[in-house]
Amino acid sequence: MKKYNTAFPYFPKDDIEEILKDTREMLNGNKMLTMGENVQKFEKDFSAYCQTNYAVATNSCTSALEIALSSLNLTSEDEVIVPVQTFVATGSCVLKNGAKIVFCDVDDDFLLDFEFMKKLINKNTKAVIIVHFAGMISTNIIRIKEYLKERNIILVEDDAHAHGATFGDLKAGNIGDIGCFSFYSTKIMTTGEGGMITTNNQEIYEKCASLRNRGMDINYKGELFINLGSNHRFTEFQGLLGIYQLKRVEEFLEHRNKIANIYKNELSNLIDKGIVRLQVPAQNSRHSYWRFIIFLNNHDRDEIIQKLNALNIKADAPYFPLLHNQPLFENIEKENMQNAERLSKTHISLPIHMLISEEDSIIIAKKLKEVLV
Ligand SMILES: Cc1ncc(COP(=O)(O)O)c(C=O)c1O
Repeated sequence: MKKYNTAFPYFPKDDIEEILKDTREMLNGNKMLTMGENVQKFEKDFSAYCQTNYAVATNSCTSALEIALSSLNLTSEDEVIVPVQTFVATGSCVLKNGAKIVFCDVDDDFLLDFEFMKKLINKNTKAVIIVHFAGMISTNIIRIKEYLKERNIILVEDDAHAHGATFGDLKAGNIGDIGCFSFYSTKIMTTGEGGMITTNNQEIYEKCASLRNRGMDINYKGELFINLGSNHRFTEFQGLLGIYQLKRVEEFLEHRNKIANIYKNELSNLIDKGIVRLQVPAQNSRHSYWRFIIFLNNHDRDEIIQKLNALNIKADAPYFPLLHNQPLFENIEKENMQNAERLSKTHISLPIHMLISEEDSIIIAKKLKEVLV
């Protein structure tokens, strides 16, 4: 019986051949191994894709987030608001920068709750990190963006799930002041490990590029170190993988959206009956479907996951525990995250990636319907 994994890195055969040719050149000593022409081209192509002025490749999204916050020169008085339905890196980057993390509840789509956020804002709020969870951009994104702009609060996007997601004319990575992407192996496009910072702000760009490169002055032709940076650099091999993956990303997104539409159609009966519920993106937006999230209104979530796993369908439920419940944040003062707590025990995520075919998605949806009776 076929096994349906949660995620899968995907390199088409033709791309593998081309990547191997270029890799041989590198290994034969004809090209650089790190921070050379591939990295530069990938940064240029990625900023063009996101419609931003600048992009800085990093060795992970965790590094990208840490550098992005570091470029803001935060102090221990400064507060950064973070949603609680996310991966640890969205929160740990705040602590790494010595600032105060302020947890924010999420709405019914698992996205930063705008009304809750408003109540958390005070004179010390320096930034808000928004996570396009599973690849969905909040229906409130314009309101959030404008509200923060009016108050001179920086909006950082955690785009780890959202390559190519759009909202009207806006593209993920070009919505806030800074965007941070992940190219980890399970993501929409991958370089094994890897990340990218996007921005339109020249000052932020120069600081991030410097911090990524041990604090070097990027405008000086020599080794002058002007910031307390570290080595978060990107290799030429990663750059090469990135160039080829980016060429395919629209194809990947089209496929993911096709599979998502099949899941939606197959589950429409259960949705109408109120048995399951899905995220509801705005009409004028494109979900990137890093994950296909289903909220179960009546069933025991863990039991359903177990039953699907027994049928070789690797369903899971990111993220558990929720951010504010991670031991790292044990001693940090927090409010009750009522909605996140309530919803975090009710969702599952179905396999959605390039190796899930249309037929596979029909089989998976059928099996889910069987276990939900
Ligand atoms: C929302 C979110 N932010 C940040 C990260 C960190 O990404 P990376 O593994 O590239 O450091 C992840 C990784 O899964 C993530 O899901």
